[in-house]
Amino acid sequence: MSVITNIEDLRILAQKRVPRMFYDYADSGSWTESTYRANNSDFADMKFRQRVAVNMENRTLATTMVGQAVSMPVALAPTGMAGMQHADGEILAAKAAEKFGVPFTLSTMSICSIEDVAAHTSKPFWFQVYVMKDRDFINRLIDRAKAANCSALVLTLDLQILGQRHKDLKNGLSAPPKLTIPNILNMMSKPRWSMGMLGTQRRTFGNIVGHASNVSDMSSLSSWTSQQFDLALSWKDVEWIKQRWGGKLIIKGIMDAEDAHLAVESGADALIVSNHGGRQLDGALSSIRALPAIVDAVGKQIEIHMDGGIRSGQDVIKAIALGAKGVYIGRPFLYGLGAMGEAGVTKCLDIIRNELDLTMAFCGLTDVNKVDKQILIPGTY
Ligand code: FNR
Repeated sequence: MSVITNIEDLRILAQKRVPRMFYDYADSGSWTESTYRANNSDFADMKFRQRVAVNMENRTLATTMVGQAVSMPVALAPTGMAGMQHADGEILAAKAAEKFGVPFTLSTMSICSIEDVAAHTSKPFWFQVYVMKDRDFINRLIDRAKAANCSALVLTLDLQILGQRHKDLKNGLSAPPKLTIPNILNMMSKPRWSMGMLGTQRRTFGNIVGHASNVSDMSSLSSWTSQQFDLALSWKDVEWIKQRWGGKLIIKGIMDAEDAHLAVESGADALIVSNHGGRQLDGALSSIRALPAIVDAVGKQIEIHMDGGIRSGQDVIKAIALGAKGVYIGRPFLYGLGAMGEAGVTKCLDIIRNELDLTMAFCGLTDVNKVDKQILIPGTY
């Protein structure tokens, strides 16, 4: 690949370098993938108002998310098994985010553990938690996140049942992944990736193995993950986690105004309008289409974030225009990671920052905090 100019270039390079089962795990949605596709394509319908002869000097993208300073309103989304896109993936992504001044969110289902990431970074990162039946395990996870100085907890509510992802089923991707002959051969055909994996000890779920009771190896992990997601999860659990954590709480997976009201009542500091990147309920609205109703319902009471389908800085500014205080990117940074490790995540953030900055200027604004619906052509959003 010659010059990398956009996120699609990173995706193509990642597809070449990452074994198929892990690349497909990132680049897929559930069932027909209609929500996965709409998450991105719905952004394209929205059109900007071009403004001219406005002073464009001294532009700033700096703002805050849950009261914390960020260099632009973009965080890295929690993504399971990022350490399978590239050896030590979560550590590398956290380092890139830290240097860039944007939040990194570590998933419960990460390969590198909370302690691993904390040992390689110096600023606080965010931690994402799923509600598991084993409440002692959750208690310990929260304590570990506190000990690691995590500055926000992201509580994901939309994955108590796993959406059916056909590519993963066909590739035999499970926790842990099935090492079939085709999978092993495919891994061996990706020498950079394989060498990286041989050079690291971090190849399993670092937050879980050795920490959850009776999970000591890959086979005990498999039965644990299949049983642990708590189908009885309710808003009472959210209140319990809020109280147990005591710090900034962000609720992830809100797509409905009624749920948004409940999120406000639970005492959360922010909510994320998200359909899990089209990986859960196929047929759900795209996140960008769901955002306005939620901003209307609770935007004055709680900070609203969104994720899903952001592939450029232009998508970021459209979400901000519709009322998001900040957004998250999932696959874009995973593509960067798979393509070039830490340098690829930095490249991803750099691309998004430049696109955001230039688009803001073309729309006649110099401060991201002043962006609102005025930058969009009425009738296109
Ligand atoms: C995810 N997502 C996710 N969310 C979460 O709360 N915990 C997790 O462990 C994961 N794991 C995960 C793995 C992979 C490979 C992907 C692509 C996504 C969802 C993620 O946080 C976010 O909602 C979406 O990725 C946003 O959509 P885009 O930016 O990928 O289009």
